[in-house]
This record gives sequence, structure tokens and C-alpha cells, in this order.
Amino acid sequence: MNNIVKKQKYAAVLDNYASDILSFETFKEQKKYIQHGKISVYEHEILVAMTCLAIVDKFDIKVDKRSLVRGALLHDYFLYDWHDDDPSHRLHGFTHAERALMNASNDFELNDIEKDMIYCHMFPLNISRVPKYNESLILCVADKISALKETIANIYLKIVKYTV
Ligand SMILES: [Fe+2]
Ligand SMILES: [Fe+2]
Repeated sequence: MNNIVKKQKYAAVLDNYASDILSFETFKEQKKYIQHGKISVYEHEILVAMTCLAIVDKFDIKVDKRSLVRGALLHDYFLYDWHDDDPSHRLHGFTHAERALMNASNDFELNDIEKDMIYCHMFPLNISRVPKYNESLILCVADKISALKETIANIYLKIVKYTV
């Protein structure tokens, strides 16, 4: 299966389990917040959810796919631009998971797996928040892979811009 077919397959899974989240206005507003480089928080959450599905496929891990997708989509639902020079964003790395959980709980019905996924996704930076479920651990890994890819893509774009 090539990458385009895989992406279409994962996009269909996202639609199947989380069309309410994807069509929710506040969720779509995250398109205006930058996560890494030129990637918005909205795009990052979709990429992370797809990476979670790719990990599950690759290693044939038994998970609750609906929770996996929904927790991944909402893991960075903190709803502000963390690049803003606002003193309250200074500890973003340590505080945004809690903020995302609060916002996601206000807007959606979350189960225990989804809550744990969002709350613990910054492990091991937040060393005290050890993930309790496979879904949370998979999200931790997928989030780091996506962040690395987004950062490398940004560096690549900067080099191309500088050299061409
Ligand atoms: Fe995060
Ligand atoms: Fe993230």
C-alpha cells in the first residue's frame, strides 16, 4: 500500500470516528495557530492521529481505535498561539496538556482513555504523568515523531529558501 492510499485510508478512519470533532468550529479555528514551522496545530493533530493509526497497523497493536483517534485529535486542544509573547505561555511545554484536557472536556464527551491520552501526552517531559493505556503511549511516540518531521521539514524549507 503506497503512502497516498494509506493517508486516504487513515483519513476515512478519522472521519468514521471523529467527524463531530473535525467539523467543530473551535477545532477548525486551530488552523490559525502555528505548531511547528508552517504546520498549524490543526494539521499537527491530524498528522499525529494518522501516525497513531500507522503505528497500530505496523505493530498490530490491539487498541480502542475510536479513543485512539479522538484522544490524538484533541491532545493539543489548548486554543492559543504558544509563540505569542504572553507570560502565561512561558511554561507551555508543562502546562498545555492540562489546558487541552480542560477545553476538550468542555466541548466533547471524553472517556478515561481519551482523558489519559491528552493529560499524559507530554511524558517523559512531564515525568509524573506516566501513561496508563496503550493508546496514551502510542500517542506519546506519534507526537514526538510528528514534531520531529515537522521541525525537519521546516529546517529543510529554510535551507532551500536560503540556497535557491
Ligand atoms: Fe502537546
Ligand atoms: Fe502535539
